[in-house]
Amino acid sequence: MQYRHAFHAGNFADVHKHVALLALHAALARKDKGYFHLDTHSGSGLYDLKGEQARRGNESSAGVERLQDTVAPRSPEIAHYLEALASVRSSSGAHTYPGSPLLSASVLRPVDRGVCVEFVAQESRQLQRALDASFLPGASRLRVEAGDGYQRLVASMPPLERRALVLIDPPYEEADEFARILAVLPEALRRLDSAVIAVWFPLKRQRDTDLWLAKVSRSITQPTLAAQLWLHPRDTAAGLNGSGLLVVNPPWQFDQRAAQWQEELRELLGGGVDSGSDVRWIVNE
Ligand SMILES: C[S@@+](CC[C@H](N)C(=O)[O-])C[C@H]1O[C@@H](n2cnc3c(N)ncnc32)[C@H](O)[C@@H]1O
Repeated sequence: MQYRHAFHAGNFADVHKHVALLALHAALARKDKGYFHLDTHSGSGLYDLKGEQARRGNESSAGVERLQDTVAPRSPEIAHYLEALASVRSSSGAHTYPGSPLLSASVLRPVDRGVCVEFVAQESRQLQRALDASFLPGASRLRVEAGDGYQRLVASMPPLERRALVLIDPPYEEADEFARILAVLPEALRRLDSAVIAVWFPLKRQRDTDLWLAKVSRSITQPTLAAQLWLHPRDTAAGLNGSGLLVVNPPWQFDQRAAQWQEELRELLGGGVDSGSDVRWIVNE
């Protein structure tokens, strides 16, 4: 496996996914009862945007760096993301970028808990170190495991809390990644049908995305939406044209809110005539 998230940290897709992740955490935290968070593909947790790997791709310049001077975003979800970013950076440095586990650690409450699974042992050790070194309130509520996130997803459902927020964020380097997701979703939902599951997916050729979404819509019955933000025409399979998130069992009004914050994010990211965003139900409410 070649993928290293350090090459891509803080790119526009990370920003999109991380705004959504924090919005989902906030929605689950509206109830006092604790919930279980599972991050099936965690990465190493903290990235140095001045480091050699990040500089090589320079992807954050079209992502988080575009938001750096944003003072008062219209959407509370974007404001929340910028606050979480600032809170991590206050101890790790302004040139760092938090991955999904550290962002989750910034918002998990004492009643919540989570597991972060990472397949590459070196990355999972780095993640453990990043959590140990952080002062984030929820860091001690997250356990790091080295292993296969899909297996862990099925094994951990249903959690004791019977409330779950799952992030599935694979690298899509293996040809069967979409098929693995299609196989694991119904099984996880059979064990906890109310689980909120967010699956990140790349937007490349629109027809391929639509075909996959149609397959997902035939494989599960829970209300599900696709939130998509693209900065480039969706007509090539080569580059990353946009960022997609499938959200199973989205919280109340997540669709309306996402339509607004995605559009603001598109503007902040400097989206031009070829950019766009949409939120659509693929399995009806
Ligand atoms: C896109 S990155 C994750 C980024 C992270 N979720 C974030 O938002 O900061 C995907 C990660 O999944 C790991 N990975 C690949 N296959 C995996 C598997 N089957 N189970 C768990 N982790 C896996 C890769 O090593 C990589 O670190």
